[in-house]
Amino acid sequence: MGFMKLLITGSNGLLGQKVVDLCLSKKIDFLATSSGPNRYSKCPQNAYVPLDITDEHNIQAVLTSYEPTHVIHTAAMTNVDQCELSPEACDLVNRQAVLMIARYCQLQQIHFQLLSTDFVFDGAAGPYRETDQPNPLSVYARSKFEAERIVQQLDGLHYSIVRTIIVYGQGENLSRSNLILWAKEALEKGASIQIVHDQFRAPTWAADLAWACVRICELDQQGIFHISGPETLSIDQIVERVAAFYNLSTAHITKLSSASLQQAAQRPPKTGFILDKARAILGYNPHILEVTFALL
Ligand SMILES: NC(=O)c1ccc[n+]([C@@H]2O[C@H](COP(=O)([O-])OP(=O)(O)OC[C@H]3O[C@@H](n4cnc5c(N)ncnc54)[C@H](OP(=O)(O)O)[C@@H]3O)[C@@H](O)[C@H]2O)c1
Repeated sequence: MGFMKLLITGSNGLLGQKVVDLCLSKKIDFLATSSGPNRYSKCPQNAYVPLDITDEHNIQAVLTSYEPTHVIHTAAMTNVDQCELSPEACDLVNRQAVLMIARYCQLQQIHFQLLSTDFVFDGAAGPYRETDQPNPLSVYARSKFEAERIVQQLDGLHYSIVRTIIVYGQGENLSRSNLILWAKEALEKGASIQIVHDQFRAPTWAADLAWACVRICELDQQGIFHISGPETLSIDQIVERVAAFYNLSTAHITKLSSASLQQAAQRPPKTGFILDKARAILGYNPHILEVTFALL
């Protein structure tokens, strides 16, 4: 394992915070960056600088001054419906910014790790392997797929692509919630919630994902990795597992079809990942839902 200096983008986000945790516990030299001030109390102020990934000068200045060996690029426009409604903003953040950072990494021989999504697939034949053919259905999904192609096509770039699915966990000052936390909080309040029964996903514990991202960097592994939780379930099954674990009533849950929800962006019906590659190469061994629920 070589010497590592890790630059994290999107460190205020859920995954970003977990990567910061891991760097602190493993004593990895890191620089955390995100747009605006540091909102994660465990991230030391002297290990943080603001970085707007859509600003090429800002990218140049921060990377030149820190000289990382690896970049874990978690920052993105992650609200899928927002992307559908603002395709230009989505393209700027999810595709153009990747091109700018990855080009710099190509010149400086820095390992660039892109976070991508199960949504690159159309969901007709999940669970998926790394070698399966993408067919993105939404603006968000296309922006991520195009970003994947950019890093694959930059000559000589050291890169990894980590695709993941419904990331969940606790974080501080997050700009959005996640399915499992949202469901837990709503069920605890006895609020009425609507969930779909015809979408299948493998929810991913954010700390497991962070572990895999850092592991790939430590091993300098190239190429695509599918990283998710171990089980593919329908959304209503996931919420029922939350309810059962915390002993909460399911009386106020309404189950709907995706078609009746009328969301802006189309979602793939069934994703989920086959994790053989990550298990074999990284020793990845994700936690089952109930083990993580006890830590939420
Ligand atoms: N969460 C999922 O279910 C899921 C599923 C598949 C793939 N992924 C991918 O995994 C990655 C991490 O996801 P996550 O759940 O950690 O997302 P997240 O919590 O939404 O974090 C993304 C972070 O990026 C930051 N950001 C947005 N625009 C930026 C900009 N122009 N410059 C700098 N920072 C910017 C956001 O800042 P603010 O907090 O200030 O808005 C946020 O902190 C993303 O690339 C996402 O596409 C996520």
